[in-house]
Amino acid sequence: MARRKIVAGNWKMNMTPSEAVKLVETLKPLVANDDVDVVFCVPAIDIIPVIEVAKGSNIQVGAENMYFEEKGAYTGEISPAMLTDVGVKYVVLGHSERREYFAETSETVNKKMLKAFEHGITPIMCCGESLEQREQGITMDWIRQQVKVGFLNVTAEQAKTAVIAYEPIWAIGTGKTATTEQAQEVCAGIRQCIAEIYDDATAAAIRIQYGGSVNAKTAPELFAQADIDGGLVGGASLKEEFGQIVNYK
Ligand code: PGA
Repeated sequence: MARRKIVAGNWKMNMTPSEAVKLVETLKPLVANDDVDVVFCVPAIDIIPVIEVAKGSNIQVGAENMYFEEKGAYTGEISPAMLTDVGVKYVVLGHSERREYFAETSETVNKKMLKAFEHGITPIMCCGESLEQREQGITMDWIRQQVKVGFLNVTAEQAKTAVIAYEPIWAIGTGKTATTEQAQEVCAGIRQCIAEIYDDATAAAIRIQYGGSVNAKTAPELFAQADIDGGLVGGASLKEEFGQIVNYK
């Protein structure tokens, strides 16, 4: 069975709740496409107003992070049950910005992955190499390590429903999209890694996105690659251009 494409916006720390409502009202008609899963991953405070304004549309709402405990004395964190209670379906985990600025590690990402599955939330697990790692020729070793640790103790049935976002750090927010060949090569390598951890059926089912300066111009070729099942889009998800990315064909 062909994998369904998934195009997700990652708003990062942008949009106040009132700005968020306006943006979703503008984007709602532009992102209408029943052939693609469309997800808006938004700041925690925007989740409820975005869910409200997106009602009746094809937009699904995701969080940008989540904690791995159920509840308790974890000031400032958001729990999986808080997310599911309001209808959140996806969560971005292990974005490179969280790894760089907030001490997120593959081990904490793994704990969050397990918690997300337990609550029926689909994780979008990010991985990706720095420019230095690419130049040293260790891109695939590094990413395989991130994937292997991230998926520790995740069952094959769970992994089949997961989303992995390959985001080369040097391409994020820089306007420097990876070439189609570079993106396809790593996404194929990630699928191979999943086949080694699990089996071919799991590798064939899991969805792998490319992220890093995706725009309306680069999306069609990227998303047409055999192992690229859509994109995780930062900057361009805050603009009308996101409609063109979702309707890339
Ligand atoms: P960008 O961000 O599209 O602005 O490069 C992508 C991301 O960080 O998810």
